[in-house]
Amino acid sequence: MKILACYSIKGGVGKTATSVNLAYAAAQSGLRTLLIDLDSQGASSFYFRVRSGKKNWGKRFFNTYEELLKQIKASDYDNLDIIPAHQSFRHFDALLSDHKKRHRRLRQVLKGLKQEYDLIILDCPPTLSYLSEAVFQAAQMIVVPVIPTTLSERTFEQLQDFFRDKELRLDNIYPFFSMVQRSKHLHKNTIERMQVRYKNMLETQVPFSSDIEKMGEHRSPVACYAARTAGGSSYNHLWQEISQVMDS
Ligand SMILES: Nc1ncnc2c1ncn2[C@@H]1O[C@H](COP(=O)(O)OP(=O)(O)O)[C@@H](O)[C@H]1O
Ligand SMILES: [Mg+2]
Repeated sequence: MKILACYSIKGGVGKTATSVNLAYAAAQSGLRTLLIDLDSQGASSFYFRVRSGKKNWGKRFFNTYEELLKQIKASDYDNLDIIPAHQSFRHFDALLSDHKKRHRRLRQVLKGLKQEYDLIILDCPPTLSYLSEAVFQAAQMIVVPVIPTTLSERTFEQLQDFFRDKELRLDNIYPFFSMVQRSKHLHKNTIERMQVRYKNMLETQVPFSSDIEKMGEHRSPVACYAARTAGGSSYNHLWQEISQVMDS
C-alpha cells in the first residue's frame, strides 16, 4: 500500500482538486483507492457527495485503524472510497500533542488498512503543524501544487526549510505547476526558473481551467464531464507520472 499526500502551506492552490482527480484516476486504473479528507472544511467530501456522520469521532481518529474502517464511505465510483472530513478534525493538533509518538501516529494507524487498499490519498489542510509532520512521516510521496508566481515559489522554499529543520526526507517532495496561465509572463518565467532549480519537479502542468473550476457545480471529478479538454485530461497525465515515480 502506498500513501500519497497533497500538501501545500498555501490555501487555494489546488490541493483538493488534485486529491479528488488523482484519486479518481488511480481508481480508474484499477487501484483500490481510499481518499482521506483531512481538511475540516470538507471540500473533497463535498465533491464526492459524501458526508461524515454527526458524531464527534475525530477524537478517536488516531486510536486504531478499526476506528477508521467504521468511517469509510463508498463513492459513486468503482475502487474509490472516502473518509469524509468532520468538523472535529480542527482539533487534530491538540489531539496529536497528547500522543508521545505523534509523528508516527498517522503512519501507524494507516498501516492497518493495507489489506483493504493499494493507495491512500491524503487531502491536507494548509497548515504547518503536528498534523502536517505526521503526514510527512506517513507519505512516500508529497505532491505539492505550485501556482507559478514568486510568492508560491517562496512558500515552496519555506516547506523545504521545514523539512531540513525536522530532518525529513526532502526527496519525497514532488512539486508540480497548478493553475498555469502560459500567457502570463510571470507564470512562464517562474516555470522556467523552477524547472531548473528543483529536480523533483513533475513535468505535467495543470492549466487554469474553467472546466476544473466547475467541479463544485458538477460535484464530480473533472474527467467525468470534460475528459477531452486540456484541464480535464491533465490530472490523468499527472497520475501517470506519479504512478511511475511510485513504482520506481
Ligand atoms: N486548475 C484550476 N483551474 C481553475 N480553477 C481551479 C483549478 N484548480 C482549482 N481551482 C479552483 O480554485 C479554488 C481552490 O482550489 P482547491 O483545490 O480547493 O485548493 P486548496 O485545496 O489548495 O485550497 C477552487 O474554487 C477550485 O475550484
Ligand atoms: Mg483543500
